[in-house]
Formats: sequence, structure tokens, C-alpha cells
Amino acid sequence: MDLTVEGKAFVNGSFNDCCIGITDGKISDIKKILKGDEHNDFGNKLILPAGIDLHVHFRDPGMTHKEDFSTGSMAAAFGGISCVFDMPNTIPQTTTLQNLNDKIISAGKKSHIDFGIYSIASDNNINDIEALAKKCSGFKIFLGTTTNTIHFNKKNLREILKDIGKTNKIVLIHAEDEPCLIKNKVKENNLSDHLHSRPAKCEEIAIKDILAASKGINSKIHICHLSSCEGLETLRGKPYNISCGVTPPHLLLSLEDNLPSQTLYKVNPPIRTRFDKESLFNSLKNGVVDIIESDHAPHTFDEKCVDFTVAPTGMPGVETMFPLFLYLAKKEALSLQRLILLMCATPAELIGIPKGKIEVGRDADFIVVDLKDHCRIKSENLHSKCGWSPFEGWPAIFPSHVFVRGEKLIEDHEIQVNQGYGRFVGA
Ligand code: NCD
Ligand code: ZN
Repeated sequence: MDLTVEGKAFVNGSFNDCCIGITDGKISDIKKILKGDEHNDFGNKLILPAGIDLHVHFRDPGMTHKEDFSTGSMAAAFGGISCVFDMPNTIPQTTTLQNLNDKIISAGKKSHIDFGIYSIASDNNINDIEALAKKCSGFKIFLGTTTNTIHFNKKNLREILKDIGKTNKIVLIHAEDEPCLIKNKVKENNLSDHLHSRPAKCEEIAIKDILAASKGINSKIHICHLSSCEGLETLRGKPYNISCGVTPPHLLLSLEDNLPSQTLYKVNPPIRTRFDKESLFNSLKNGVVDIIESDHAPHTFDEKCVDFTVAPTGMPGVETMFPLFLYLAKKEALSLQRLILLMCATPAELIGIPKGKIEVGRDADFIVVDLKDHCRIKSENLHSKCGWSPFEGWPAIFPSHVFVRGEKLIEDHEIQVNQGYGRFVGA
């Protein structure tokens, strides 16, 4: 055994004092007492599985002034995430085998943590799905237009879901209906106008279309960043193969919250009402929501601080997601058990990787947390290139240590590995 780690570990659904044995990057044993070449005793601190983020935009290639795979993955590591899945709305978009291969190779040289790469499924690459599926971690469909994308024509939705279904890859969908967005478009001067332009109705229509188009298709379909009560109600009783995710901004922010800036909080789908926020948060506890995903969508502060009409949508979040929710779990807003399902075990299961649980045979990916060790989020202490956070000043608990495949990536809040440690988790 190369390494043993001792503490109050989350194993089999509860916290127990135990030792975790690691051999060749995998968890090889879990016992009350174990001996290894190197022993790390964390005493009463908690050992949790590391988080898995199924939704990041690391902007690499093409927009690396906002973020790149090195800075994005470092931010993720500090936030207790051991594996991210990168979205295809880069420049160029990840539509072809060539772009996909280039991205995998480049990310492999830069990433601090493990990663997967999605392809886009668009009206233009319908015939390439089978070939792309051999390499990518899943497909993304944008039903509504958003940052650096054109929407997918919903007339072809059933066809593409069938084609992707044959490949056994997960498909992730941005669920806002384009005709509905066009119909409701108003001139936008603030967040309230942005909400009027992208009403809950558009999310509801898109989700109904997805449910209808996927009838009889049993492959995995994931609805990204659910944002409205209407969307939530439409998904109640959803088929087992359909999952959905929510993001920290939609769970924690609303228009009634007196947000300190308008443009910084411009995001698609929009920040909605307190009622939407509370409905989503309640459903985290035992409802239809399966995972929390960051939708880390960085733009620089200067890019965001422009006239509302032209401000780009999206905000960073990969580093603050797990820490914000660890603090909320400490305050009993939701249980740690539930949080671990939402952030670790279920994302790993949806994407099909041997991570997300402290269990023999899985990757030795975990974080060490002291629930007494909370701080206020300060942008200057974060690692994203974009340099700001929508959660400035919010209380959070950052992990002191982060292990990925048995390697200490973060030790006492300091990074220990170079870029390039991260591995492509495969197709
Ligand atoms: C995302 C981005 O900037 O890439 N923006 C956003 O507002 N969420 C794209 C997306 O996921 O819609
Ligand atoms: Zn989206």
C-alpha cells in the first residue's frame, strides 16, 4: 500500500473513524487500522469524496483571456473538485473529431485535475455523432441561443436523441426554447428585463419538448441548470434516464435579493424570483434535482462591466460551489449526506466514472474538511483568470487537502502538482 489516510471518512453513507489504503491511485482497502508507506492522520477532520463538476466552460481554446485549462482546473482543485467536464462552446466549437482531439491533447498538458470533454451536437454535424462518440465524454445540445452558440433546431430533436442514444453517451441539454425566447425578447437594461426576455415558460416548453422527443429512448439525458419552478414541476415524476442539475446562482440568488451589480449577474437561464430559488433549493433536499453543477462561465470583470444590453452572460463558480454548500450543510440547510450525493456520487454515476465515493476499487479522490474552518469568499484568493466572484463575501468552507488518484493536489491550502497531472477520463 502506497499511502494511508486516516480521519472521519464518509464511507457507505455515514462518517466513521477509519483508514483508507491507496495503491496505484485507487482505494485498495478501508479498515479501522491500516499501515502504508506514508500515513496521513487527519484526526477528527472529515474526509469526503471529491466533487465532480459536469458543467464547466474553461474557454480553451479561443477565449483564454477569460480562462484556460490550467487556471480553470487549478480553481476547481482549490474548490475540492477532482474532475470536470468541459463544454463545447469554445472557439472553435467542439464540433469535429479534429477539434475534439486537439482539445483533449491540449487540456491534457494543462489540466491539474482529471477531465472529460463534450462535443456539441448541432444541425451541422448530425452525421458525425457516431465518430465523435468514440472520443467524447458526452454531447451538448443548446435548444436556445446563448454565449457563443447557435441553437439546435428542435424539429430534429428526436432524431438526434435517437442517434446519440445508440452511442450510449449522455446528452446534456440547455433547455430554453428558441422560438419562445424570440417571441419574448425585450430591450434589456437590467436583470428584470433579462428575466422578461427569457421567461420560465421558455424553460417549461423546452423541457416538455425533451420529454416528448425522448419517449422510448432509454439513454441518459441531462437537463442543465434548471432555473424555474415551472421547469421543476414539469420534471416531477420524470423517467429514470432523465436527470437534471441546478447551479449555485439559481439556488442562492434571486431578483429580490438586491444584487450588487446587474451585469455581473446576467446569466442564461436568468436569475429568477425568490419563489423559484426557494423551490429549487427545497427540491435539493429530496426532490427531482439530481446534481449541483457549477456552469462555471467566466468572463473578465471588464467584459462584464459594460452596458447591460451588450454584457456577456455567465459567471464563474467552479471554485466556490462545494465550499458554499459545505458551509450551508454545516448550517443544516441541507444534510452532508445529501450534498455528497448531489456533488460527488450522482455526477460520477451519470457520467460513468469510478469516482465520487470512498469505496474499494474507485479512484482515491477525496477532500479533507474542517467544518470549523470557515472564511469569507474573496476574489483575490480565488484562482480563476476572470478575477471576480458573484459570491464575494459569502461564507464558505474550503478543503485543506485535496487528493486526486492518491496524489496530494492541495496540502494545507497550497497546490502541490504542476499542470498536466490531470488525465482525460476517457470516452
Ligand atoms: C454560458 C457561457 O458563457 O458559456 N453562459 C451562461 O450564461 N450560462 C453558456 C450557457 O451555458 O448557456
Ligand atoms: Zn447553458
